[in-house]
Amino acid sequence: MHLTKNEERILNGEKGEVMERLFRLLVRLGDIYGADKMIPVGSVQVAGVSYKSIGDPGLEFLEDMASKNAKVQVLTYLNPAGMDLENWKEYGFPEDFAKNQLRIMDAFKKMGIVVTSTCTPYLAGNLPRFREHIAWSESSAVSFSNSVIGARTNREGGPSALAAAICGVTPNYGLHLWENRQPTVKIDVDVDLVTNSDFGALGYYVGQQVKNKIPYFTGLKNANTDQLKALGAAMAASGAVALYHIENLTPEADIVEKKGLETISVGKKELKGTYTKLNSGKDPDIVILGCPHASLREISQLAEKVKDKKLKKPVWICTSRMMKEASDRMGFTEIIEKAGGNIVADTCMVVSPIEQMGYKTTGVNSGKAANYLPGFCKQNVVFANIDDLVEGQL
Ligand code: F3S
Repeated sequence: MHLTKNEERILNGEKGEVMERLFRLLVRLGDIYGADKMIPVGSVQVAGVSYKSIGDPGLEFLEDMASKNAKVQVLTYLNPAGMDLENWKEYGFPEDFAKNQLRIMDAFKKMGIVVTSTCTPYLAGNLPRFREHIAWSESSAVSFSNSVIGARTNREGGPSALAAAICGVTPNYGLHLWENRQPTVKIDVDVDLVTNSDFGALGYYVGQQVKNKIPYFTGLKNANTDQLKALGAAMAASGAVALYHIENLTPEADIVEKKGLETISVGKKELKGTYTKLNSGKDPDIVILGCPHASLREISQLAEKVKDKKLKKPVWICTSRMMKEASDRMGFTEIIEKAGGNIVADTCMVVSPIEQMGYKTTGVNSGKAANYLPGFCKQNVVFANIDDLVEGQL
């Protein structure tokens, strides 16, 4: 890989031990994947934030970096943490877990990282532009930024994202290159999708079929950004889809090469079969919406459904701190809390320790959450649309 004089100096340790160590990691990655050079990144999103996922070794690594004065060079956001960073006590998050989670956040803050923990950074002040090179980690955020925005990122691991943030560059390979952004399979959709969970079910089915290919969808007439984030999140979870195109909807769909692709058809039967497959439980102890993190529109939909009503079981909607603040101002938070629900910020059902909080069956409208909850959180899952989930609790 070609390195500039300045990059050679970093490798020689002239910019300190931390830079040398992290830059070396990027060079190794670039060598493995055949990158020709490093490219500057406009922003970074770092995964590996929840104490549940990284444990003591991760915490010690981050504190070590922070104590050595590591500082990020570009706008850097974080993936969801293991708890609501402000209201964790009120929602019943365990005290010793909270103590360690707060130490992690402190280490990130010392490095200059924005302590905004969300998988929808693009809704919370970190919006890349078309064709901008970025280094993001969380799979649904990677899918959304590549596919819906047309920015360019590989799916970074926690350490490689942190290295990109501190060095300000990433190796030029994979989805940073136009030739690797071409579709490799065509998906013909022949069923009307109505709810966000329908998009999640479609994403789950397609992800399982295509693994890490790049789908080109036809037959999807319309989809709002909430539905696109649900679709991409599920495809990235059941498969490893980091980029998709949709005819007439996503920005690169018109310009990619789509001749001669193998075709997979998805109809009513496949969608119904996916709902059946993803349901492993009945009668949820808790309903958790907001995977990926809810937009203001999704929060307002929940508020509308529960206005002047009383919920029988806990209902959470997970979101970013920014969306929660907007919801507070709009009065949605008050409506939801009056009904007995909660807007939980900074975390989500998968990275928080819900199994330690006594929940055994969780209701979700997300294909991604339905995919991970049984393994990560030992939950039985009720997968349905928001109407059925919330009406079941009224
Ligand atoms: Fe986000 Fe958690 Fe879902 S990180 S995409 S809400 S599993």
